[in-house]
Order: sequence, then structure tokens, then C-alpha cells
Amino acid sequence: MVDTTNTTGFGGRTVPLIHPLYVRVTHWINALAVLIMIGSGWQIYNASPLFSFSFPANSLGGWLAGGLLWHFAAMWLLIANGLVYLTLGLATGRFRKLLPISARAVLRDAVAALTGKLRHDDLTRYNTVQKLIYVGILLTGVVIVASGFAIWKPVQLRPLTSLLGGYEAARFIHFFAMAAIVLFLVVHIVMALLVPKSLRAMITGR
Ligand code: HEM
Repeated sequence: MVDTTNTTGFGGRTVPLIHPLYVRVTHWINALAVLIMIGSGWQIYNASPLFSFSFPANSLGGWLAGGLLWHFAAMWLLIANGLVYLTLGLATGRFRKLLPISARAVLRDAVAALTGKLRHDDLTRYNTVQKLIYVGILLTGVVIVASGFAIWKPVQLRPLTSLLGGYEAARFIHFFAMAAIVLFLVVHIVMALLVPKSLRAMITGR
């Protein structure tokens, strides 16, 4: 059964469940893990920058070894938590909420968003731009984990590293996936603050 149909009596009213408990718990654990991964990833990057810039010194971990310890610790949290979210999402049919996505619907909702005509009154459904962005960020999560493994164990996981174009290419893929997640986070948090009831629903479920 799709969880958005779950309801409960509340002061005589029927209040739809927007985000089941497992979505809320895994969402906030994921947010914590991602912030640790980004902060410590910047620290690791600074030891051998790919580009002519560095991130703020002492991002997380204080130096290279400290950054690596944080990165490898949070990585297991991110992966285990992600697997719980994906497994329960598939088992409960949650991902039907993120589909279908058609180019025409994305265009229609993007134009509505840019002209201030997009409605946010029904939180049980995502608009098509949201669907596209959420599916995109979930796929980016897969790419960043795969490219991370490719540069962590390039010898043991040589087929994976080769698939991504080799060690150097995998480093760039890992970097650009991080940049996409940071960009997503900025927009995502601004939207959550602009529509505070969506933030409340991700905390209380309703
Ligand atoms: C720390 C700051 C964050 C805040 C304040 C936040 C807030 C929210 C809110 C309010 C929603 C519900 C949106 C709605 O119902 O319209 C949501 C959903 C979602 N967020 Fe976040 N989020 C944060 C971090 C993240 C991170 C780091 C990721 C992934 C990299 C992420 C991925 C998602 C996804 C995929 C959904 C849809 C989940 C589903 O419906 O199954 N969020 N977030």
C-alpha cells in the first residue's frame, strides 16, 4: 500500500501521513552523514587539490588523517542508512511517489515555479520538478558511493575503477558529484525554509 493513503483520526479530522517514520529517520541520518562526508571530503581534497583552489582550512578533521577518519566513519553510516531507505522504499512502493517524470510535465512545473504559480498546498504529492530533483539526487548518491569505492580501493576494485575511466577520472567524478550535492542542498534547504510546513512534515510526518 502506498503510505500517503495512511490516515489517522486527529481532533475529528483525518490527517494524511506524508512521510512515514522510516523516511524521516533515514532522511535526517542521511543529512548528518552527508554533512560529515562533505566537511571531511573538503579536508581530504585540500591535501591534494584537483583545481587551483582549496576549501577552508580545518574543514573537518583538522588535517588529512583526521579528515580520512571522519570520511571513512560516516561512509558506513551513509551506505547502511541509504540501503535501509532504498529497501523499505522499494518494499512499500514509496518510490511511486517519485514517478512518473515526463519532459512535458517538468517543463510545465518549471515554468509554473519560475512564474510563482506552483502550488504547495498538497504535500502528499511532489511536483514533477521535485520528482526529477529527488530521483537525480538519489542517482548522484549511487555515483558518489561508486566513485568513492573506486578511488579508495583502485587495485582490489579495478573493474569498477576502469568502468569510471580510471583513477584520475573517478576522482573528478567524485568531486563533481559532491558539487552537485552541495548545489542540491542549497536549493533544497532554501525551499524547505520557504515552505515551512514541508519541513514540519519531514519532522512530524504530518
Ligand atoms: C540538512 C538539511 C536538509 C533539510 C532541511 C531537508 C529538508 C527536507 C524536506 C522538508 C523534505 C520534504 C520535502 C517535501 O515534502 O516537499 C525533504 C525531502 C527529501 N530530502 Fe531533504 N533535507 C535536508 C538534507 C537532505 C540531504 C543531505 C539529502 C540528500 C543528499 C536530502 C534528500 C531528500 C530527498 C531524496 C527527499 C525526498 C524523500 C522522499 O520523499 O522519499 N535531503 N528534505
